[in-house]
Amino acid sequence: MSDQEPAFPSFTRSPDPSATPLEDLLAPIVSQLPRNTSLSPLRYDLNAGVPDRASLPAAQLAAAATAVLEADPGAALTYGGQQGYEPLRAWIAASEAKRSGLTLGTDEVTLTSGSAHGLQNIALTFVAEGDTVILGAPTYPGAIRTFRARGANLVTVPQDGDGLDTSALRGTLESLEAAGTRAKLIYVVPNYDNPTGATLPLKRRVELVRLAADHGALIVEDDAYAGLDIDGPAPPSLFEVANGRGVLRLGTFSKTVASGLRVAWILAEPHVIAALVHMRFDNGASPFLHRVVLHYLESAHYEVHVQRLQSIYRERRDAAAAALVEHAEPYVRFHTPAGGFFFWLQLNEPLTATAVAAAAADREVAVTPGPMYFADAGGERSIRLVYSALPPEDLRVAIARLGDALAEVAGAAPS
Ligand SMILES: Cc1ncc(COP(=O)(O)O)c(C=O)c1O
Repeated sequence: MSDQEPAFPSFTRSPDPSATPLEDLLAPIVSQLPRNTSLSPLRYDLNAGVPDRASLPAAQLAAAATAVLEADPGAALTYGGQQGYEPLRAWIAASEAKRSGLTLGTDEVTLTSGSAHGLQNIALTFVAEGDTVILGAPTYPGAIRTFRARGANLVTVPQDGDGLDTSALRGTLESLEAAGTRAKLIYVVPNYDNPTGATLPLKRRVELVRLAADHGALIVEDDAYAGLDIDGPAPPSLFEVANGRGVLRLGTFSKTVASGLRVAWILAEPHVIAALVHMRFDNGASPFLHRVVLHYLESAHYEVHVQRLQSIYRERRDAAAAALVEHAEPYVRFHTPAGGFFFWLQLNEPLTATAVAAAAADREVAVTPGPMYFADAGGERSIRLVYSALPPEDLRVAIARLGDALAEVAGAAPS
């Protein structure tokens, strides 16, 4: 799939010839935005960034739902306010305070319907048409779509095996300033990045925070994979490094509990939170699910569950890394991620992502070609591979097949 493909090709046809064609009614941006990723129908899906389904805590959430409805059905099942259930905000503030050593309260937290919605809330609050937003190249496609939908001027900074290249960022900020432009936001996924799997070292975190402060930009720290640590704890958050100032930190229960809950949060200074809450038009997120999540978090199950996820994903990461060395190494280069869901494979010349993805699909293996992670051109020599969703034995088969696909394309491609 390329970024150029229209989002909704079927919208261009109207069943009733007398009716106004839908394309005349849609906002122009609708057909300009790239599509979202989706589950693949292929037998081995290394494409969709989804968790291990078997470990979802369904029984504990069912018990939590029953308890919450019995305790206070009126409060759980009616509007709960724009900022979200205060006891859950208190739990999040306490957990972030414990980790960072900062003093944090409920005024520093707002609850969103997934961090994807948190990003949209941030974009609505800070980004007007033409405002400059800095993103990594590559980066999370949901961020590209969200900021692009606001008409932002997207400026990219290269990412390497250690995440966002802060020397390049310095150059970009200086060039923008010389041209009379100020970047409003710098978006970054510091831990177990989607798609690169990279974790930003502390030195770069310090540099990033300093650069953002010097140039008057806010940092949007998207820590969607927080907690999925495979090789020990991640470095201090950007929020912590910045002493809580100038950083909007996005967190979510999607990866450590369940993405279907759509429960997430933004941590920021109280006046920033007040602006974000003001710019909500959804009557708040679900007070029922906030109570369910809090009930689960306060049970004995949560910490054990996260530790279990870490060991499941460690086993899968290791199986995928070994299979890549065995079957794909002549054709690809990669860094082993220290957590999260993803390997980012650099294809050796003359392989291209499109040809490799097509040859892999012929073998019932879905991988994601690199271009969709770039706000502008790039990614033709990269593919993302998800290791979280499949058990080790399936990963080994899928990666062996991917190796065959790589060999075929390498043999067929002109030198
Ligand atoms: C980097 C990143 N941010 C945000 C999200 C969205 O997560 P949520 O389910 O909290 O909306 C994802 C989902 O995969 C992601 O990879």
